Formats: sequence, structure tokens, C-alpha cells
Amino acid sequence: MKTVENNRLFIDGVSCSELRESYKTPLIVYSRSDIKKRIGEIKRDFLEKYPGTKCAYAAKAFLCLEMCRIIKEEGLSLDVVSMGELALALKAGFPAERIEFNGNNKSKEEISEIVKRDVGRVIVDGTDELELLEAECKRQNKTASCLLRISPGVDSHTHRYITTGHIDSKFGIPLERKIFNPIFERALNSPYIRLLGFHFHVGSQLLENSSHIKATVVLLDLINELNAKYGFIPKELNIGGGFGIKYTPKDIRPSYSSFLDAVMKLITEGFDKMGMAVPSVVIEPGRSIVGEAAVTLYTIGSIKEIPGVRKYAAVDGGMTDNIRPALYDALYTAVNAENVAAEDMETITICGNACESGDILIKDISLPKLKRGDLLAVFSTGAYCYSMASNYNMHTKPAVVMTENAESRLIIKRQSIESLWENDCKL
Ligand code: LLP
Repeated sequence: MKTVENNRLFIDGVSCSELRESYKTPLIVYSRSDIKKRIGEIKRDFLEKYPGTKCAYAAKAFLCLEMCRIIKEEGLSLDVVSMGELALALKAGFPAERIEFNGNNKSKEEISEIVKRDVGRVIVDGTDELELLEAECKRQNKTASCLLRISPGVDSHTHRYITTGHIDSKFGIPLERKIFNPIFERALNSPYIRLLGFHFHVGSQLLENSSHIKATVVLLDLINELNAKYGFIPKELNIGGGFGIKYTPKDIRPSYSSFLDAVMKLITEGFDKMGMAVPSVVIEPGRSIVGEAAVTLYTIGSIKEIPGVRKYAAVDGGMTDNIRPALYDALYTAVNAENVAAEDMETITICGNACESGDILIKDISLPKLKRGDLLAVFSTGAYCYSMASNYNMHTKPAVVMTENAESRLIIKRQSIESLWENDCKL
């Protein structure tokens, strides 16, 4: 939880100045209490309200051993998409049966590991993947519990790089029946596949539920048709993640209820009408659990004014720890953590330290006059920042700490300079 005391920013009762002193900058600070608060909302507004539902945290938003422990403790499932995410989850002692494996191009090695580790759900993305999975299950003499990911053909209102449910998408199985039905039949009739139902994910940072609604309508029609043709009754439907968050004062974060109540109503009524038991509904939120829970602290370095054009303040991080403004034109807001509200405001552009003109974190923000050494706190950096961080220019990845009850704890060390060449071969 963020508070301001004596014009200074505190996170869970720990001052940002103290955090900088202890861990240096750039530093990503996660409030454990904020993460738990969001999970609490999911429990109240979805899991407890609609019995039989599940929530799988989308690891891609932010993953580390500590995050796995929180998700495990809170009783949620985990959505992973790579060998690396799976290995980390298992290393953290996360139960394999609560892991769901997504992704549009699972490798043979990944499929072999999925089967070997008895991963709870495989979200199958296409025919060849289904064939690989069947062959691997046969080899290991096992069955895999699967959902077929459909491409529902709906456009969502978000940046085109993070919309996934439209027709021209690399994700999911197209619903054209001559493509879909053979895959479905194969999965249904395979002795190695336990076909439980379907999956869709329509996009990310969605601020309203129209795409989820449209995709649900498409899915219900499909289920009705498959039931008539094959007598199939799904036991599980995964409706993905995508719930948007607040990045700037202008954004209004939708509640989980405002997203999910209408979808649940549609599903319940749809299944009642079709005379089938309502299946277990699963959601896969990532951003909405961790996004607003973190703040990135930077130290201000060089300040430059181009008369009549713009004034820049550079920070000791940038696109290497937050690629989102450069990649998606994402907007962020920030404060001077040691002078939150002041009289002498000015408009300034916060840029990073990478050799790239596009390395701008926040364009034209109003902040109290900055000087070298000031401490800048950028809000809502908990999702897809650390997980998309790079070593461009051989900048090292920042440290990550977690706060709770007026205490802070390092959860990911700052990357060392030496680690930058640890994979180089000595010639
Ligand atoms: N499930 C699936 C199958 C997904 O592909 C995703 C996100 C999620 C769940 C979680 O979505 P969320 O609740 O976090 O919106 N790097 C981009 C976001 C990419 C999202 C990819 N898939 C960004 O920084 O905005």
C-alpha cells in the first residue's frame, strides 16, 4: 500500500528513501499486501461467488520463486508458457497438478516435460501440437488433461500487439469447421487425451468486457453444435485473462465483478438452456494481480533543456527494465518520492539511459522541479516490466524487493556485471 507522509512516499510503511539506501536504484518494489489484496478480490468476486471456478495466475506478468510461493499459499493455479517458467515453478515446489501450460509453439522438449511432470492442464493450440502430445503420452504411457484453445475471431480494444483473439492471430485453433472439427474429433477420440473443454484469451489491458462477452457467445454456439454432433459436454472452460489496470490518473480500473458477472451469467444461462451442467470456469489474470502492486525507483541523473523544445531528465534505467512505453506507447505516471507534492512544478520528459531515442519512459509529465540525485517513483510497473527486461547495452537487470508490514526483503538480487558474460564461450 502506498502512503505519503511528510511529502515522502512510503510503500507498506517503508520509505522509498530507505529502500534506495538499502538496495540502490533502479529498484522494483512490490507491495506484498497489494498482491494479496488483489487475490482477495478475485476470491471474493469470483472464486467464492461462483463455486467450482478456478484462477490460474499468468506467470508471464512477473515470476520468481517468491511469487510462486505466494500463488501456492493463496491456493491459486499457475499458468506457464515455457520450460523456464515450468522449471522455476517446480523449483519453488509448486504442485504440478495446479499448473496449466499455454503457448502457441510448445517444443518437443517442453511437451515431454509436461507429460513427465504430470502438468495439470495442457492448453492445446493446434493440430501438430496435439499429435506431438499424443505421441509423447503414448511413449510415457500417460494421459494428458487438455483444453483446446480456440481463436474466437473477436477484436479487442487494446494495443494491436496485445490483442490475441482476432481472426488473423498466431494463437488458437481457427473455428472454421473444416479445420476445427478434425482436431476436436482427434482429441475427443484419443486414448491419450482427456479433453475437458476449451480455452480463449482475447487480449490484455482490457478496460471493459465486450470482447470476453463476444468470445463467450461464440464459444457457447460452438459447444451447442459440438454437443448436437458428438454428444460432447465440456467440464471446463478457461476464459483467459486480460483484465485492465490503472496506469495513469485517467484510467479507471474495472472491478473483477464488472468483468465476470455478465460472463458467468451468460455461461450459466447458456448451459441451462442447453440442458448441460455448468462447467468449471477458469480465469488467467496476470497484470491485474501484480501490475499496480509495484513501483520502480530510479535516481535522476542528467538533466537537459532544449530551449523552446523540451526538457529531459534521465534515469538510471529505462527501456531495459520497462520496454512498455517504447513497445506499446504505454503511459505511466510518477512522483518525486522525496517531494511528492510541491509548488514549483514543471513539465519534463523522463528518459532512460539506453542508446536509443525511443527510450522515453514518460513524455511531458508535470513534476516538482527535478535535480540530479532526486528519487523518482514510477507507478504500476509490476506487470510485464521485469519479465520483459533485457540486457541491451549490457545494462544489468534491477533488483526486486517485496514490502509488507513496514519491512522490506530482497526477492531478486540485482544482476551482477559478471553474469553478463557467463554464457560467453572462452575462446
Ligand atoms: N492467458 C493467456 C493465454 C495470455 O496470453 C495472457 C497474456 C494472459 C493469460 C494474461 O493476461 P493479463 O491478465 O496479464 O492481461 N507484454 C504485454 C502483455 C502481453 C500479454 C500476453 N498474454 C504488455 O506488457 O502489455
